[in-house]
Amino acid sequence: MLILGIESSCDETSIALLNNNEVVENIIASQVLHKEYGGVVPEFASREHMKNIQKLTLDAFKNNSYELQDVDAVAVTRGPGLMGALLVGLSFAKGLAYSLKKPLIGVNHIEGHIMANFLDHSALEFPFLCLLVSGGHTMIVYVKKFGEYEILSRSIDDAAGEAFDKAARILNLGYPGGPIIDKIAKSGDPKFHHFPRAKVKKEPQNFSFSGLKTAILYLVKAKGESWVKENLADICASYQDAIVDVLQKKVFEIIGDIDTSRIVLAGGVAANSRLREVFSHKAKEKNIDIYFPSIEYCTDNAAMIARTGLEMYKNNISSEMNISAIPNLQLI
Ligand code: KG4
Ligand code: ZN
Repeated sequence: MLILGIESSCDETSIALLNNNEVVENIIASQVLHKEYGGVVPEFASREHMKNIQKLTLDAFKNNSYELQDVDAVAVTRGPGLMGALLVGLSFAKGLAYSLKKPLIGVNHIEGHIMANFLDHSALEFPFLCLLVSGGHTMIVYVKKFGEYEILSRSIDDAAGEAFDKAARILNLGYPGGPIIDKIAKSGDPKFHHFPRAKVKKEPQNFSFSGLKTAILYLVKAKGESWVKENLADICASYQDAIVDVLQKKVFEIIGDIDTSRIVLAGGVAANSRLREVFSHKAKEKNIDIYFPSIEYCTDNAAMIARTGLEMYKNNISSEMNISAIPNLQLI
């Protein structure tokens, strides 16, 4: 089974070739032009995808013995994401599938993040509890089997990745903020400043991250630029710790109530070194199996889309040629 994966939901154009569970290629072109604007500019994202997608697809066949005709199915992200960006990938995938006379498989990007774990851990078994943390989503999902999900917790406002990105903007560190804060925080003291760990009164199972950016904004305003510069590593470490702390508390609280002893991390924020460290440590302490994807498969990539496509193909699920992109596609 050779699956061609296509991902273009946000600011990464990615093409992957997956031979069963083996990733033959996973090409990721990150659009650097957004850095200058401090966030993704949707129109620019679509144009960059258009510029790159065909060349990247041809590149995916350069360093192996496969040819485009060997592809058994074309899997592509159909949502959630930016409408224009999604349309570039989806239209291109339709054209390819049609000309190759092979099935088109429209993939849910959120499901892709979860399934990314099977790329590194082919022996991972259902059911498991998944913490999905990305730039657009924060949720704890009980994954009973492929395609059967129960959302047990979610953020009522900002996503965890957004909390990183917004803080980085306030601190003038650049975009995307997560990897930058992660790196700077390595030499900082997480106990330097206590950022709030928000609780959602009426929905105690859920997260809220929007108060964090207000807290860091007020701190920066009150203390001034030179203080921030002097204590940057400590501020980043403390801020990062506040995010990781609420995530780990909730996940380890919820796992006590469900019938699994497996925790799986997914999404861009799962690349965070502190998050991986804290979760690994606590899982060991509690005798829980912990899984996370390699860094390359945490952030947006087409290998995870191809892997989800493979699972859908095995379950006889494919898409009609007239499917549309769905910017606000939900997991369930
Ligand atoms: O999964 P992803 O690539 O795209 C979405 O589906 O949203 O996640 C992107 C998010 C961004 O907010 C980025 O800042 C965050 O993941 N991120 C990180 C790290 N690497 C990426 N956050 C914290 N630490 C990291 N090392
Ligand atoms: Zn993503």
